Amino acid sequence: MTNRKRPKVYITRKLPDAVETRMRELFDAELNIDDTPRTQPELVAAMKSADVIVPTVTDRIDAALIEQAGPQLKMIASFSNGYDHIDVDAAARKGITVTNTPNVLTEDTADMTMALIMAVPRRLAEGASILIDDPEAWSGWSPTWMLGRRIWGKRIGILGMGRIGTAVARRAKAFGLSIHYHNRHRVSPQTEEELEATYWDSLDQMLARVDIVSVNCPSTPATYHLLSARRLALLQPTSYIVNTSRGDVIDEAALIQCLREDRIAGAGLDVFENEPKVNPKLVKLAREGRVVLLPHMGSATIEGRIDMGDKVIINIRTFFDDHRPPNRVLP
Ligand code: DGY
Repeated sequence: MTNRKRPKVYITRKLPDAVETRMRELFDAELNIDDTPRTQPELVAAMKSADVIVPTVTDRIDAALIEQAGPQLKMIASFSNGYDHIDVDAAARKGITVTNTPNVLTEDTADMTMALIMAVPRRLAEGASILIDDPEAWSGWSPTWMLGRRIWGKRIGILGMGRIGTAVARRAKAFGLSIHYHNRHRVSPQTEEELEATYWDSLDQMLARVDIVSVNCPSTPATYHLLSARRLALLQPTSYIVNTSRGDVIDEAALIQCLREDRIAGAGLDVFENEPKVNPKLVKLAREGRVVLLPHMGSATIEGRIDMGDKVIINIRTFFDDHRPPNRVLP
């Protein structure tokens, strides 16, 4: 790449300083220093002028936008693990290569999943806010105050046993939970043995038997509202749901209904159907201590973001060196 013209790379959001510095060294990089989300006309203009677009999960790179790309646009190098915000088929039709940043978010997202699994049944957010909002109101320890539900010894049902699901399973096992999972394909016998995991071919049957459901599958047309009203009704009233994947895997309105009717015990959500808008009914449930809500920060570590930037850079450099980028996403 060094002997050629530096590719014009358009980056939609502020990235870590170290990543931006490297991008400037290597590419003709257009950065977004103040992190103002790009408008649609700005994105259209970039599609007509840049060689590479570096979007994030907050940019909708749909077919209508891709159709407007000029012939110079060769690559969409997403700064993200998930790529449900990109119409990969439309990009393929235009001959545009799409890449993502897998693997480097796995452990951080699994950590945050565990944090929610611990936080909801043990009422962590509720307890912490008591001492922030009104410390005087705490009259001291009491045997029957702020009781949550025990976590160890329970059954976790992992929906989607890919990299993140497996990393959650490893952690959950160490916390004394028994591992159950539903996935398109069964994991290897060695992994099942290591995790002492039970595979459920039927998602419905798994949901009826577990205490905590962890959503770890990607958002695809096949997983849209996978946890539908009918499936949510299969859960036990003492069960919890945690989602660090994508909001639309759960029918959010049906989940709210379930919580309001005490048909499940609680939920921990890092992702929502209409981000960044959060349904006010969920916020009300959070104030009542029924749910813990986080603003899509499952993978938000300094180290992880730098690793993601490194992956984007490697993908672009490899592509412009006429090789197949390591994280190419195929339709
Ligand atoms: C991703 O990159 O897909 C994540 O959702 C960001 O946390």
